[in-house]
Amino acid sequence: MPLDLYPHLSPLEYNKLNPERLTEEFVYFAKDKSLPIETLMAYYRCVIMEIETKFYVLNEELSLEYDRNPIESIKSRLKSWDSLVKKMSQKNLPMNIKSLEENIYDVAGIRIICAFQEDIYRLAEIFLRQDDVKLIERKDYIKNPKSNGYRSLHLIVEVPIFLQNHTRYMKAEVQFRTIAMDFWATLEHKLRYKKDLSEAESEILSEELLICSQMSAELDKRMQTVKNKISAEER
Ligand code: GTP
Ligand code: MG
Repeated sequence: MPLDLYPHLSPLEYNKLNPERLTEEFVYFAKDKSLPIETLMAYYRCVIMEIETKFYVLNEELSLEYDRNPIESIKSRLKSWDSLVKKMSQKNLPMNIKSLEENIYDVAGIRIICAFQEDIYRLAEIFLRQDDVKLIERKDYIKNPKSNGYRSLHLIVEVPIFLQNHTRYMKAEVQFRTIAMDFWATLEHKLRYKKDLSEAESEILSEELLICSQMSAELDKRMQTVKNKISAEER
């Protein structure tokens, strides 16, 4: 049973339903007394809410100025237990809460989808200027796309969540994409998980996707130019 279908289940409930899976790895987490996993995951849900709210606020404010919404949509997700355990074992990390928190930066993931590339840089810059946002890492796959054609701006940040008795900084990965970048990445992601293709077929599709990526970059540029001309006319 894929965990993604049951994102509302706590890891303990999930493990009860899936006694044959994850059990060994899960025991390490369950034994960890430093901070219960349930609590840590709740903190990650909180940081998603904090970051989403920051962007909803910016969207409101900027939409007054732009006369349109700079953010098309926001998609957030908490990494599933399956993926967390898999990622930690791939990275040979010790299975405990401390190592999870220190080494896995994308437990909380927030994706900001914009119409125009310009909006991405504007939003990212304003977000990073906020006093309580700490930048940990920045990867600009728009200026430097991946060899497969992947484009997106990634920020790893730390943002505080305000709890009853203390404030706690939590890490999150914020990805900024245009609609075109997101459209491309969604399709490419599907190809990546398609296991029944021959090597030759998958190579042809990868080449095709690379061309699509170049075309979508061109589309983003041209749409931006058209938009800039329309805005100039309006002034
Ligand atoms: P991790 O250890 O997995 O975090 O590796 P990394 O830090 O090198 O990852 P990176 O920041 O490059 O990418 C992290 C996330 O970006 C992934 O989980 C995907 O959501 C997205 N991503 C990165 N590369 C690709 C790609 O080639 N295709 C698609 N569809 N998504 C990608
Ligand atoms: Mg990463």
